[in-house]
Amino acid sequence: MHSLTIRTDLGEARISRHIYGHFAEHLGRCIYDGFWVGEESRIANTCGIRNDIVEALRRIQIPNLRWPGGCFADEYHWMNGIGSRQKRPCMVNTHWGGVTENNHFGTHEFMALCEQLDCEPYICGNVGSGTIYEMQQWVEYLTCDGESPMTDLRASNGRHRPWKVKFWGIGNENWGCGGSMRAEYYADEYRRYATYCRDFGDNKLFKIACGPNSRDYRWAETLMKQIPARQMQGLALHYYTVPGPWHDKGSATDFTEEEWFSTLRKALFMEELIRKHSAIMDKHDPKKKVALVVDEWGTWYNVEPGTNPGFLFQQNSLRDALVAGITLNIFNNHCDRVRMANIAQTVNVLQAMILTKGEKMILTPTYHVFEMYKVHQDATLLPVDLSCTDYKYGKEAIPTVSASASRDSDGKVHISLCNLDPEREIAMACEVRDMTAETVTGRILTAKHIYAHNTFAQPESVKPSPFTDARLEKDRVSVKLPPKAVMVLELS
Ligand code: AHR
Repeated sequence: MHSLTIRTDLGEARISRHIYGHFAEHLGRCIYDGFWVGEESRIANTCGIRNDIVEALRRIQIPNLRWPGGCFADEYHWMNGIGSRQKRPCMVNTHWGGVTENNHFGTHEFMALCEQLDCEPYICGNVGSGTIYEMQQWVEYLTCDGESPMTDLRASNGRHRPWKVKFWGIGNENWGCGGSMRAEYYADEYRRYATYCRDFGDNKLFKIACGPNSRDYRWAETLMKQIPARQMQGLALHYYTVPGPWHDKGSATDFTEEEWFSTLRKALFMEELIRKHSAIMDKHDPKKKVALVVDEWGTWYNVEPGTNPGFLFQQNSLRDALVAGITLNIFNNHCDRVRMANIAQTVNVLQAMILTKGEKMILTPTYHVFEMYKVHQDATLLPVDLSCTDYKYGKEAIPTVSASASRDSDGKVHISLCNLDPEREIAMACEVRDMTAETVTGRILTAKHIYAHNTFAQPESVKPSPFTDARLEKDRVSVKLPPKAVMVLELS
């Protein structure tokens, strides 16, 4: 028997809703032919932004959206994306397919999108090929409420009131596509840029430094040592789950159990990354003032056959749902340090929530996990003690179950459970210490095959259904967790 103890007596830390954040880059069909269809489109839109996408993302309570990249951020010159669309200069998107970017989706369009989504903007500024002056002016343009050249420019473009912008990234992957910098050099650059990104009026920036690539612990150590906490509220971390080698990452939908296993094993590596990065941060910042911001994570496979390799368009299967469920459980359980995260990317790119084709739109299995897990947003984390057997494949083994739990402001307890084993049902006894629940309900996401996914012809092959098989007895809940499943239980 597998067991889980939920410590309702120990809840202290809050799971920030910003852990459930998203990312939209000028990459492939994420912005153009994704979010943005233009005002003239026959696809239903509000000021050029697709209505069905906005409605779907509001349903998962999207808390923040990162933009304009990614690697694109360090090539982006924001002044090219304001004013009359017809007069905006073009550029070549050299990172992503070499396509011509017409800058029709710029600052005003992004802020309108965030308003429609009712989410907070997270803007990433250009350090790699930009200037401090350019970034300083962007902050002023967005947030200054006084008399200033940028306020006048903003007003001449139709926006009198300043916007509220909290989350501000100072460069992206500056160890790579953002300028190939050394940690020491970037740390100095960060301090210069951060100095000139001002707080105007009551708008307080939450400045986020470009963090390490995966296990580059030296990068994190250098930044934590060289940048004072008053200048850096967040340190980013990027980690992608890539089943195969970089030149042949594997297919999103045509894979074996061996690839299922290795993908989930690699997704679980997030736990080690967070533990080790947190330990470094604890050394320099024992009061945990600086947040760890995992602002790029998710699966990365070969692109769908026949699509532009520079567009990173991939399908999304039940395997991705498990990766999302596992990763979000890890973030929840480390919410004292991980206070923000952004899955890459929202529409039509990598581990997307939504795929579009003309006027059609489908929700992916990953979307459904975000919808099921939204109950954890801003809830109090309840620590869990999990005891389970291993799921073994060949010579390797990983835990069969992943779990996290929280209590919301109405006193309801939610437990999210993932069964990683594709064949074996798991009988799980959950002790909910210090709580006598009266009811238990649940929802489950699973399918017949590990590679099950939604298509434009069959958009509902993978979707959540009610789970009615949980038994409640005083402070104990017994469930039979079906193989390859993500489940959320609610106790009240
Ligand atoms: O998400 C795709 C790319 O992956 C981003 O642009 C970059 O930051 C990362 O390498």
